[in-house]
Amino acid sequence: MKITLSIIKADIGSIGGHLQPSDKLLNTIEEHLNSYGNDQFIDFYLGYTGDDVFILLTHRKGINNRQIHQLAWDTFMVGTATAKKQRLYGAGQDLLSDSFSGNIKGLGPAVAEMEIEERENEPFLVFTADKTDPGAYNLPLYLSFCDPMHNPGLLLSPKIGDGFTFTVMDVSHTEQDRIIQLNTPEDIYNLAALLRDNERFVVESIHSRKSQEQAAAASTTRLHHIAGKYVGKDDPVLLVRVQSHFPAVGEILSPYSIGHYVAGFMRGSHHGPLMPVKKNTTVSYFDGPPMVNALAFCVSEGKLTEPVDCFDQPFWDHIRDKVSRKSLDLREQGFSGPAMLPYSELEYGGITHKMEELEKRFDFR
Ligand code: 13P
Ligand code: 13P
Ligand code: MG
Ligand code: MG
Ligand code: MG
Repeated sequence: MKITLSIIKADIGSIGGHLQPSDKLLNTIEEHLNSYGNDQFIDFYLGYTGDDVFILLTHRKGINNRQIHQLAWDTFMVGTATAKKQRLYGAGQDLLSDSFSGNIKGLGPAVAEMEIEERENEPFLVFTADKTDPGAYNLPLYLSFCDPMHNPGLLLSPKIGDGFTFTVMDVSHTEQDRIIQLNTPEDIYNLAALLRDNERFVVESIHSRKSQEQAAAASTTRLHHIAGKYVGKDDPVLLVRVQSHFPAVGEILSPYSIGHYVAGFMRGSHHGPLMPVKKNTTVSYFDGPPMVNALAFCVSEGKLTEPVDCFDQPFWDHIRDKVSRKSLDLREQGFSGPAMLPYSELEYGGITHKMEELEKRFDFR
């Protein structure tokens, strides 16, 4: 029987500025989730990365299920009440609507879901990022699924050598989902042409061409398109199944050794290298650096194992040092050129007003 993996995350308030949720907020959410009967869902795992709280739910209700989305929405509302009581910063920040309207997507929280037939063994990874946007996963997913430099399985394993189908979304379209499907390896240059534009084109899902099974699902929420103003970064989540017809776990993790530059960091308006961090890592330097955590699970009839914290291993200390150096390299640039995001990404903030005012002071000589 099929099971659904749903990861739903929201920033509903944090200690300090945008650092991390309080224990009380997390306890409230955990207690609330424990109050549901097992007719609602099978299992859950609650965690956070930076100031973003995520709930991983397993159930048999399929993706975009109203009850599951309502349950997540209600849980975040209950958590927000605690955040308000504690006067946490940005209480309810990502809940952009006053009420629930059937599907939590489009209301602020980030969602990634997959309905799967459990394999004989079912390992998968959960990625949660803070201080960045959904395009942050574009390059790692491209490298893990298309490039033998990171995925030797493309050469060594006939189970994945046929390639994958990428579904890419044009997130500049807000009224309707605008998508394109590209098959690797024949479309890899087309795929790269789209994925280079992290702010506009985002990987939504990936399927195995050999088995047709779904390999990955990512959140595509762009908060500023929903709110029409700056309301924090999207802080995307991603589910990836591993092994067998999918890349091995190490092949999925390999590209995170790059610490590639992504959008985000201070006030969501800069570029910074993506740091692979341990679970429950706080935010710090320059409201960053942009960070990503990866947890590995196995699941059996919806029951989750405990997570393994993929970046909690000595190798990644070296990478974190490198990423810190890369952060400082770009930060030395201040606001200049590539350090800050282009105007199109900043126009949701106060800079629009500033530019309007300055326009009035310009004159022709
Ligand atoms: P094990 O022999 O440890 O299962 O490793 C197999 C493998 O292919 C790792 O990528
Ligand atoms: P968050 O989206 O994580 O709340 O980041 C907001 C921000 O502007 C940090 O400077
Ligand atoms: Mg925040
Ligand atoms: Mg955040
Ligand atoms: Mg955010």
